[in-house]
Parts: sequence; structure tokens; C-alpha cells
Amino acid sequence: MDSSTWILGISAFYHDSAACLLRDGEIVAAAQEERFTRKKGDASYPTRAVEFCLDEAGITADELTYVGFYDKPLLKFERILETYLGVAPRGLRSFLMAGPLWIKDKLYMDRQLRDELDFEGEVLYAEHHESHAASAFFPSPFEEAAILTMDGVGEWATASIGRGSGNDIEILRELHWPDSLGLLYSAFTYYTGFKVNSGEYKVMGLAPYGDPRYVDLILSELMELEEDGSFRLNQKYFNYLTGLTMTNGAFDKLFGGPPRKAESLITQKEMDLARSVQVVCEEIMMRMARTAHELTGSKNLCLAGGVALNCVGNGKVLRDGPFENIWIQPAAGDAGGALGVAQLIWHRHCEKPRTVVPGKDSMRGAYLGPGFSPAEIRSFLESAHAPYVDLEEDELVERVAELLDTENVVGWFDGRMEFGPRALGGRSILGDPRSPKMQEQMNLKIKFRESFRPFAPSVLRERVSDYFELDTDSPYMLLVAPVKKERQIEMSDEQRKLFGIEQLNIPRSDIPAITHVDYSARVQTVHADQSPHYHALIEAFERRTGCGVVVNTSFNVRGEPIVCTPRDAYQCFMRTDMEYLVLWPFLLDKREQPEWKEEGDWRDEFELD
Ligand SMILES: [Fe+2]
Repeated sequence: MDSSTWILGISAFYHDSAACLLRDGEIVAAAQEERFTRKKGDASYPTRAVEFCLDEAGITADELTYVGFYDKPLLKFERILETYLGVAPRGLRSFLMAGPLWIKDKLYMDRQLRDELDFEGEVLYAEHHESHAASAFFPSPFEEAAILTMDGVGEWATASIGRGSGNDIEILRELHWPDSLGLLYSAFTYYTGFKVNSGEYKVMGLAPYGDPRYVDLILSELMELEEDGSFRLNQKYFNYLTGLTMTNGAFDKLFGGPPRKAESLITQKEMDLARSVQVVCEEIMMRMARTAHELTGSKNLCLAGGVALNCVGNGKVLRDGPFENIWIQPAAGDAGGALGVAQLIWHRHCEKPRTVVPGKDSMRGAYLGPGFSPAEIRSFLESAHAPYVDLEEDELVERVAELLDTENVVGWFDGRMEFGPRALGGRSILGDPRSPKMQEQMNLKIKFRESFRPFAPSVLRERVSDYFELDTDSPYMLLVAPVKKERQIEMSDEQRKLFGIEQLNIPRSDIPAITHVDYSARVQTVHADQSPHYHALIEAFERRTGCGVVVNTSFNVRGEPIVCTPRDAYQCFMRTDMEYLVLWPFLLDKREQPEWKEEGDWRDEFELD
């Protein structure tokens, strides 16, 4: 046995379970359970993710020094109980649903973790927002920073403001349940007919089509917002304390009708509601950010928690807020808590110092999941009888650049899988952003959806300010910025009258596939040191076309988790109209593949949202 300190962090039993392993404070591996079990947002104990982390390090569970869990189940149980007692008998239904699950999965966590893992060492717990705060600050490129975390709810906290300095973090202020920005946003997600906990992106994507005409109503009726960003929600309109839905009859009355039914037509009302809640969310984020700045006096801000995935809000905080620099944890949701608690144990419990390389975070591009060697990939391809060509690196990127230039859609599987919800060139599907039909084509032929959301761009870091009103790193696609003014194309009065998705199909810039109706884009900057192959590909594409941007969407179909293994990728490739697939360093042409046989309708496997 070596003398390393191995710390395993786990987040589980809420949504998006994950595991993360540190060796002497360095991140060795991190992954979400959904990628292995192929169940989107899998919340069960992350057996497979833990197994992967241990395998990656070549150790067994009895070699672990500590195991950390990302929240405190007893405190959470106390909240559930108090909420129930506070509103009984109205709360009975919600309590009965949640109760047995809490008792089974959460109250006896300690025993369960030991049993699952076969581990007899020390199990340590952090508070939920401390885990988020730790995941935001410790891997950041800052020696000191203000920390802001915002989500649905942890034990009691729903948002926190803290300070990170050297090897420690300190929580300075908390906002408590039931006053929650995450839950407010989720209430509107529910009311506009999308799925809570995953449809929030859609609300954000819908917002640019709407007018903010409900903002005053939200601010006057639903909440009391203070100057410092704290607020109270008027529980008269919400149902998450007592029932199984987010909103109630009073909410319906206030906004003029019942929630939209899923899959039914989206109307101007949903667009206006989306815009309104987005405006309110941005205002709250901005006020909280200002308070964090006043309390800490720092020029740096670190963000985590589910609300930090609101990249439109993040972009606004960066542009209009008081901070010079912003860093956002790529696994900002609960999966990232596994990383946070592990780092908290290393720095606080083990009292280990933290070294910061200026300008560089320690997330290694978020490429922390499983990777596969050329030999492993070749062996898979042989076993699947899948024809491929084996090209030199330079030839491969030139060839793929050419394929993109001629409007092919290419699956791009390279290196280790990303940790967090975004595909960043490890498990991505790529297209040509200059093509006016690419957005529609990729949506219908690959993703099997019609979407009012455009795709996201990956741009060479050194070229970002040639294309976008942004000149900072955004390696994790968590900042939205406007497309450069001179690239924008004005809409005619006639086009302005078009409704919803029809508007999106009007080219809005010279990179239309990634330009939203309000001329914004969700930008990923690609860095040569972190993503050498992906960077080389975009360079080759730029040499050929003069465009240093590609379309990057996650490698999956609607409702499916992002692919993990070469087998997952090949299956997704064969099930869709993707024309080529790179399983680095091999290239596959769809036309050469043997016929793909599927039993039944495979799309039934996934819950379509
Ligand atoms: Fe959270």
C-alpha cells in the first residue's frame, strides 16, 4: 500500500449522483452515475461511478483514507420533519411520499455507505452549500474570492455567500428554505409545462422570445425582494411545502389559467413567463453578487449550485456586476458536491495547503471521466465488425474539418468524458456554424426534437473576441455573450412578425446555427493545453474556412444521458442520421457500416421530455 491520502467524495439520493476521487488533494477521477447506468439524472447510490474512480486509480475501497458525503442527512430529515409539522395536516401527503425514502436512504447513510463500499474508515459529512462552495472555490484559479452558491435547497440553505482564502472557506450568509431562487425558477418551469430539475434550461432558452410583462406581478405578489438579494416567497402561491406539485390554484389564478400541458403548443404566454422569471432571476443573482462583493471586497467571484448553470445570468453578472473575474464550477449542480466535500476534507480536515497556478483552475478541462485507449477502441470496433480508417493525427483533423465544411454532422469522441452537464469536446456532436440549415438539421436528424434553442459554439480561445462580445476564458460553456455586433444580421419588419421557432430559422449572423434570437450565444472557449485534439480540429476548420468556431452539442439523443463508452457512441451514431464518427484516433463513415438492427422502438427506453 502506498502512503497517499485517498479521499472519495459522494453525492447521491437527491438528483444526479456522482463520485469523485482525490489523491493527495489532486482530482484523479470524477463522474456522474447516469453515464454508466444510462438513466438520466440517476439519483441512486453511485455504485458504478465509485467503481470507475477506484479502477482509474488502481486501488480498492479499503485503501481509501476518508469517504465524504456531500450533505448532512440528519439535518435534511429535520427540515422535512419541521416542514411537515409546521404545515400539518396540509403537509401530510408530501411527507408520506418523502418520509419512507428519507428514512431508508438518508437517515442510515453512514451504515449504508460503509456497507456499499465495504469501508471501515472514517465517513465525514459536509453541509450541502458548503460542498457547493468548496467545489466553487478550491479548484478555482483564485488565491482568494467571494463565493456565491444558489440552488433549490440543501438541508436548510437555498443560497449562501461566502469567502474563500488560501485553503479554507467561510460561509458568511445564508438564505433559508422555503425561500429559494432555484425553487422559484422550478415553479415557472413546472407552470410553463417543462420538467422540473431538467427543463430549467428550456425556460432560459425560451426567454428571449418573450416580453418581461409579468416581472412586476412576480415582484409584487410572489415575493418580497430586498436590496441585498435576499427575499421571501409568498407561500400562498406555491405548493412544494405541502403537495406534490410546484404551484397551486392561487398561482393559476394570478397568471390566468392552469399550467401548460407537456408537449402541447408553446404560446406567447409561456415565452413571456419565461422572460419574466429570467429577468427576476438575473436581478436576484446581481443583487446577491453585489452583496458578496460588499462583504468580501474581493475582485474575484466563484459560483456553484444549480442556479449557476443559468449561463445567461452568469454572463450578466460578469458584464454588469462588480467583479473583475468569475469562475464557475462546471459540475455546478449536485454532482459537483462530491468534488466539493472531498476537497473540503483535504483542505480543512487534513489541514493541507492549496497551491494556485494563476490563471489556471485545477479541473483539467473537466475531462475527469472514463477514457479509452486506441487499443481498447480498436478492439471494440473489431468486435462490432465496424469498418473504420486509422489516420495520423494531422490527417484526421484535416479530414474532419473538410467533412464539417461540406455540411456533414460528425460525432466526436476523444479522451476522457466530461464531469458535469456540458459536452466540451470529449463527447460532442459537431457541425458547421455558418450553415443556415445546420440548427434544424441537427435538431431533427440527430436529436429528434424541434427546438427553440440554438446550439452552442466552441471557439478557439485566442479568437473568442473576434466572434463574441467576450474576452475571457469560458472553458465550461457557462457564460452567455452577444455575437459580435458586426457579425449580426438585422431582421426585417416582416421577419420580426414571425412566431417562435420560425424566428430562429432566420439567419441572425454569419454563424447562424449558434446565434439565438436575441443575438446571444452560450460560448465554450477551447484551449490548446486542455483540449489539444479539439483545438487542432477547430484550427484546421479555421484554416480551411476562415471560421474559428464549430457547433458543439452533447453526444446523445433527447432524453438520453451523454454517451460514455465507444459502444454508447457507436450505438447513438447508428441510431441517428449522423454521417461520420470519430472514435479518436479512428474515423467511421456511416455508409460503410453494416446494417443496424434494433429490437422494438429504442426511443421508448428514454423518457422524452
Ligand atoms: Fe444543490
